[in-house]
Amino acid sequence: MTETTAPVAFPQSRTCPYHPPAAYDTLRTERPLTRITLFDGREAWLVSGHATARALLADPRLSSNRDRPGFPAPTQRFAAIRNRRTALLGVDDPDHRTQRRMVVGDFTLKRAVELRPRIQQIVDERLDAMTAGGPVADLVSAFALPVPSMVICALLGVPYADHDFFEAQSRRLLRGPETADVLDARDRLEKYFGELIDRKQREPGTGLLDDLVHRQLREGDLDREGLIAMALILLVAGHETTANMISLGTFTLLQHPERLAELRADPGLLPAAVEELMRMLSIADGMLRLAVEDIEVAGTTIRKGEGVVFATSVINRDETVYPDPDTLDWNRPARHHVAFGFGIHQCLGQNLARAELEIALHSLFDRLPGLRLAAPAEEIPFKPGDTIQGMLELPVTW
Ligand code: HEM
Repeated sequence: MTETTAPVAFPQSRTCPYHPPAAYDTLRTERPLTRITLFDGREAWLVSGHATARALLADPRLSSNRDRPGFPAPTQRFAAIRNRRTALLGVDDPDHRTQRRMVVGDFTLKRAVELRPRIQQIVDERLDAMTAGGPVADLVSAFALPVPSMVICALLGVPYADHDFFEAQSRRLLRGPETADVLDARDRLEKYFGELIDRKQREPGTGLLDDLVHRQLREGDLDREGLIAMALILLVAGHETTANMISLGTFTLLQHPERLAELRADPGLLPAAVEELMRMLSIADGMLRLAVEDIEVAGTTIRKGEGVVFATSVINRDETVYPDPDTLDWNRPARHHVAFGFGIHQCLGQNLARAELEIALHSLFDRLPGLRLAAPAEEIPFKPGDTIQGMLELPVTW
């Protein structure tokens, strides 16, 4: 580099909900690694090149253990709870492998295929309820949130009747305005799962949490606290992310009528469309790691103790891998995107999420051929850059 520029602040909000923040444009020209400043003034590395991202995400010299000194915190919220136990996502091998083995059987492709009829039933019921109360509905609260919430409840054995409680606490955890919100939400969710687990010990039910109570807790592979941490990550990761993809995916399709027409004409395009939407929307924008040894990569040395952040939205628009990357294109091979991560922490729920997205988007546009926005696109609120990306509300009519 010939000139020294101040590091870009990370994270930043998008101006269009389906494009990376304009402030990251410089990162696209300075790929694959740049310096960024986090909220607390600390600097870290930002990875924005595709090949470098995949190499680093597979590198065991990068730790996911948030409790290590120097682990990068993108927000005050994250900093406040990073010493709390985080199952899977915050654990390095070999413990990570042990934890993943406990649950992976419930998230295989085969299991996602078996769940399809149940997902379809949930989607149909939600569409019945939404159309009975409309036209004009908020697609987020009427459809995008309840569908994945009901699916993950059924899979885990969590009573959906408690959804108002856990959805509100997840929201505070991921987006609470104050640090106190995050700590309180985390406490409440831990208490909730503690009581649920105790109940399941007395009255066994059917669901992944029941299996974990009976297999792992009894055999001592997981203690009560570990099981609470596992339940928490599965429930929160299992509904918030997919809900955001459904709302933002719908908004994006409505803003691209030619692409939507292609999908309607040929539903066989759906799996490719879901993959391309995953790439384009990159809703989990900012995976976090800490270097535990020096790493030479792309002509740079990442020093032991430095934080590394992965700008998913920029990585997934690397034009050396995805020509014309800002264009939505069902015909491109979108695979190898990192919207579900990569390496040992690659999303556990990706098969389930793909099944939910295919069924939800297909049924929505099939049942409601006249679906359209009920407010000007530029007035519809979407989430700020410091959390999982998605729509805050999505007023629609049909
Ligand atoms: C479209 C929806 C989803 C997106 C965009 C998404 C995205 C991601 C990403 C990017 C990661 C890797 C994070 C990292 O490496 O730091 C991840 C991990 C994870 N996801 Fe998802 N996810 C989605 C749906 C789901 C669902 C439905 C579940 C169901 C339980 C789930 C559970 C998890 C878990 C448990 C991990 C941690 C895995 C590990 O550390 O081994 N996700 N997800």
